Amino acid sequence: NGFRGRNISWSSYCINRKNREKLHKHRAIVLWFTGLSGSGKTTLASFLEERLYHEGISTYVLDGDNIRYGLCSNLSFSHQDRYENIRRAGEVAWLMFDAGLVVLVAFISPCSSDRKMVRNMFFKNCFLEIYIDTPIEVCKSRDSKNLYKQVQEGKIKNFTGIDSPYESPENPDIYLDGTKTIQELINQLFDAVILK
Ligand code: PPS
Ligand code: MG
Repeated sequence: NGFRGRNISWSSYCINRKNREKLHKHRAIVLWFTGLSGSGKTTLASFLEERLYHEGISTYVLDGDNIRYGLCSNLSFSHQDRYENIRRAGEVAWLMFDAGLVVLVAFISPCSSDRKMVRNMFFKNCFLEIYIDTPIEVCKSRDSKNLYKQVQEGKIKNFTGIDSPYESPENPDIYLDGTKTIQELINQLFDAVILK
């Protein structure tokens, strides 16, 4: 394969994910949130992380907005750059998963095949796709970052759900009705994710 030609080989270490999970006293898992801008990804990931923290669970959140400040600061919102954005998020999530953490990933991740690519990086039960289904009209009415307004004014192009596609997950592991209250959604999530 391609790796051989690049003169690299995998180095194995004595301490592995299973050891780290034992140390943390809980399993590692990736919780991948997908949904439109303003659907509630950041809010839900943040509240869920807080709840898990108080349960003694080691977490880390990868948030699209935040990761685009650093690791992905060279990427735009073109189809190709979103693919690269999701690929990098998946790879970082994998490292954090391997570190034995509960990794919450909050990226729009609008493209089904990109989501499938990251899902395929993980063991079957270690990756949960969480779809926050919030109608775009609701997202627009929230408009917490004033982005939909700017789209309306023609100041932002390639905006998800407007002039750039969002492919809804057909078979998410967890389906959330984004119009429910945060408390309801957090309870639903907390019950669905078994960590110990
Ligand atoms: S993606 O599609 O997964 O690569 O997007 P992501 O890395 O999650 O970044 C989404 C945040 O970027 C802001 N933003 C935009 N979103 C969508 N389309 C366009 N054109 C765009 N421009 C800027 C916006 O704050 C998104 O954050 P959320 O939390 O989703 O609202
Ligand atoms: Mg957000």
